[in-house]
Amino acid sequence: MLGWFRRVGTRVYERALESELSEPPSHVAVIMDGNRRYADQQGDDPTEGHHAGAETTEALLGWCDELDVEEVTLYTFSTENFGRPPAEREELFDLIAAKLREFADADRVHEAEVQIRAIGHLDRLPDRVRDAVAYADRRTGAYDRLQLNVALAYGGRRELLDATRAVARRVDSGHLDPADINSGTIEEALYEGPTRDVDLIVRTGGDERTSNFLPWQANGNEAAVYFTAPYWPEFRKIDFLRGIRTYEHREKSWRQTRARRALAVVRAFGPAECPEASRVLDRFRHALPSGERATLSEDAEDVDTSLDPAD
Ligand code: FPP
Ligand code: MG
Repeated sequence: MLGWFRRVGTRVYERALESELSEPPSHVAVIMDGNRRYADQQGDDPTEGHHAGAETTEALLGWCDELDVEEVTLYTFSTENFGRPPAEREELFDLIAAKLREFADADRVHEAEVQIRAIGHLDRLPDRVRDAVAYADRRTGAYDRLQLNVALAYGGRRELLDATRAVARRVDSGHLDPADINSGTIEEALYEGPTRDVDLIVRTGGDERTSNFLPWQANGNEAAVYFTAPYWPEFRKIDFLRGIRTYEHREKSWRQTRARRALAVVRAFGPAECPEASRVLDRFRHALPSGERATLSEDAEDVDTSLDPAD
């Protein structure tokens, strides 16, 4: 009876939270941590924990589809994970290979048009995992509604090192002038996979670290981070919705701060003197509380509203 009340209560709370959300993050990156501690708590082997975690992973894809998230990156096997006991590592590779094939064949994946890709130092993976990656790529490569990046043999520093070497080779061969190196040059040299900056990182299992995950795409974008205590197999939709709410609050206050700063500059020097501040103000004015927005018209009179807000 108590279980029934709890389930109904959770569903009501879930709906309430869902109805509060307005602008979901485009790209969510997830550090699925706590599988072994969960297994230990149940008196099981670590591999059982990974199997239970894989069920949450499957559910997560459904939630992302429901909430119109466009891209998900999952920290599935880090470069540090190569240091795990060989038996656990091999069983984890078996599971990852099986899940990749299962996802690639699942009706839900095809209905939701999920494109599955792997990112990381894939040469370090055993053949069975690489074959499964190629299989998933073949079966889902043409889709583009929801992009799923599975980070395997992944390490953020390694990614940046590889990118730096690739750029240095282009300079060395005379194909690139160092003066022309910009963010786009580096982005082209990163692993092929993530197409958007990360908006939100979620980490389960209670540790408050981002563990060398997507430094360029997440740190560089000042992604919101949501740390939560449940182990990955225990992570529920309600926890995911809380993470998204954290992102939305942070996003709102970040936009407000930018608009206020830009407004202060425009007030001090005038819009004509500060085109960049005017652009920022124009882009984020809607984030200001209505009282502050009402005082804007004079200050922002000369703002060029024809500018693309995404510039
Ligand atoms: C971290 O928990 C989890 C992993 C290293 C593996 C996660 C992999 C899956 C859930 C399989 C998903 C499959 C695909 C294809 C996406 P941990 O082992 O560090 O646990 P602990 O923090 O309790 O020690
Ligand atoms: Mg861990």
